[in-house]
Amino acid sequence: MADIPHLPLVGKITEALKAAPKEIRQILEGADKDAILDPAYPYREEMDRKAYDAQMDGLQLQLVRMMHDAVATGKRLVVLFEGRDAAGKGGTIERMRENLNPRSAGIVALPTPTSREAGQWYFQRYVDWLPAAGEIALFDRSWYNRGIVERVFGFSTDQQRNAFFRQLPGFEQTLVDDGIILVKLWLNVGRAEQLRRFLDRESDPLKQWKLSSIDVEGLAKWDDYTQAIRDTLNLSHSPIVPWTVIRSDDKRRARLAAIQTVLNAVDFAGKDTDAIGTPDPAITGGPELLD
Ligand code: ADP
Ligand code: MLT
Repeated sequence: MADIPHLPLVGKITEALKAAPKEIRQILEGADKDAILDPAYPYREEMDRKAYDAQMDGLQLQLVRMMHDAVATGKRLVVLFEGRDAAGKGGTIERMRENLNPRSAGIVALPTPTSREAGQWYFQRYVDWLPAAGEIALFDRSWYNRGIVERVFGFSTDQQRNAFFRQLPGFEQTLVDDGIILVKLWLNVGRAEQLRRFLDRESDPLKQWKLSSIDVEGLAKWDDYTQAIRDTLNLSHSPIVPWTVIRSDDKRRARLAAIQTVLNAVDFAGKDTDAIGTPDPAITGGPELLD
């Protein structure tokens, strides 16, 4: 067991829980399994499974049409999935690509930069993973690491971050100018819900691999993250490359809203705007939706 690298982290969440603010611990303790924890979330319970499945089935068909059209017309689509740890990025990506051809729709989840990559232009390693004609690239985290996790943990210098924010508008503008459709999704999870998901990971042998030391150490850095997230989204939200913020305390509602946002951003043959619908405005908006 000793050589399974994630296991030393098991138990660390329960331990860190003791240091969480009292009101967060109280919310968690009395919570029903299906109850939404964040008092500010606009619904008290998660979405009914039947209603979710019915809507998701319709959206899946639209996604498949979108993919066919992308392949036929050579469209290139980039979707960035960003959010705090346990916000639901991985699960949302899985739902988005479950019926798509893995050759057309790929996941990009890059590891920590190697020392060679650390010595390159910051955006360079991401450029390698941009889509070619007919491809959809789903980024599980992205270049936004530099503004958020790297700032919170001090993995890069102020100078590197300033350079990042100077280059960012030009970089994203260049992608869009070149014809890439760029969708930026921020999944926003509440503090109690994040803890509930970490506790769940800790106790489930199928999910323990998801726990990282960043997750554990990040628990004490909630407010630092809040500041870094706010600054980053404000500095990178513009009409050409807007952020869509989706409150993700209810995974089902969040997954629907994320897929709707992507489908609405792309024109494709066979697009049925009625079947797609509008993402729920109670949980979807711009950076003003951040708490
Ligand atoms: P994830 O939640 O994506 O599974 P982690 O929680 O372990 O991954 O890490 C969050 C992000 O922080 C990852 O994108 C990872 O590459 C990045 N990261 C971790 N350590 C470093 C580091 N030393 N320098 C730069 N980025 C790092
Ligand atoms: C998520 O749930 O947001 C990601 O898939 C995993 C993580 O970042 O902790």
